[in-house]
Amino acid sequence: MDTLTVDLGSRAYKIYIGSGLLDNPKGLPFDLCLSAKNMLISNPTVFNLYGERVLSFLRHLDIHCDTILIPDGELYKDLTWIEHILTAMLRCGLDRKSMLFALGGGVIGDITGFAASIYMRGIPFVQIPTTLLAQVDSSVGGKTGVNHSLGKNMIGTFHQPCAVIIDTDTLLSLPEREYRCGIAEVIKYGIISDARFFNYLENKRQDISERKPACLREIIRTSCSIKAQVVALDEKEVGLRAILNYGHTIGHAIETETDYSVYKHGEAVAIGMALEAQLARRIGVLPEDEAVRISALIEAYGLPASLPGGMDVERLLNHMRLDKKTESGKITVITPLSVGEVKITKAVALEDIRAVLKNNK
Ligand code: NAD
Ligand code: GLY
Repeated sequence: MDTLTVDLGSRAYKIYIGSGLLDNPKGLPFDLCLSAKNMLISNPTVFNLYGERVLSFLRHLDIHCDTILIPDGELYKDLTWIEHILTAMLRCGLDRKSMLFALGGGVIGDITGFAASIYMRGIPFVQIPTTLLAQVDSSVGGKTGVNHSLGKNMIGTFHQPCAVIIDTDTLLSLPEREYRCGIAEVIKYGIISDARFFNYLENKRQDISERKPACLREIIRTSCSIKAQVVALDEKEVGLRAILNYGHTIGHAIETETDYSVYKHGEAVAIGMALEAQLARRIGVLPEDEAVRISALIEAYGLPASLPGGMDVERLLNHMRLDKKTESGKITVITPLSVGEVKITKAVALEDIRAVLKNNK
């Protein structure tokens, strides 16, 4: 098992990464459970695969835990389900020391973290992520929340988990398309901060695509380690943490424009990363061959790297103006300087973004 620390002083926590952790939880921090009443939150898809394993080891450790299942899907990441969860927690008698366990992908993690952050003004929770995207991104860093009809992830809090338990074996049941979406975020870490890791992703593509255990552990450990370092330096995204948003300015605009029904998040981010690299090349901060290398790796993993035909560029630009990084109407984009290094570029000229979007359909 690999153990990493997210160094946030009194709120520091550990990320445990290994194969078979749900079958053999020896060494995991269940001494953190201080109440007789706790709650596991999951969805039927994940619970049927892994729920009984988690409940059984909790029982074995004499930790009482009720369960709430939320229907599977982003559609249910909303305040209505938060209300249901809080009601169930009150009915079950959870107290201020009760622990929530989030078993699932990013949807379950975000909902559970948000419920934990507001129940009785905040109780602890443990992340047990089961998608690659959740294991390398959403379970670490304490961003929690739900969607509003007027915008995705618009209601939320920063509330750090007290542990993240990553059993890499859970990825073996993950559908191929979901796996590739996680790979998009993994590639992101190579581009924003680690050229050696980017090389590794180029060289080990076959083994990574086949989900070889040693590769899974390596890509998750490296990704979490980069995320942990960034979060430790800038927990509330005052500055640096925005680099984790590479590919997301254009990616979010694509998701919004296609009503979240054409592309999954990782796919939209993949297109966004390729186009933001081209933008960096256009404004003269990234060499042409590096932009080509970025697009080539994205495509090599079966992810899209260009806009589909028929996209309305002006509408995409309007969505980008509503991005959370926009300041005084000026669009901010994370632009690579080389593979392994990015810069937060504020007030990018609309003509440059427009030209890149128009040339890439
Ligand atoms: P998801 O949670 O919807 O999971 C994707 C699908 O995989 C679901 O159908 C789920 O039931 C299924 N699944 C999960 N684990 C499985 C397994 N081991 N085997 C088989 N099927 C499995 O999607 P996601 O991509 O994990 O997360 C997306 C969400 O994460 C979005 O809501 C996004 O906003 C959020 N997010 C949050 C952060 C953050 O920092 N908090 C960062 C990135 C994304
Ligand atoms: N997923 C981006 C962040 O956690 O900041």
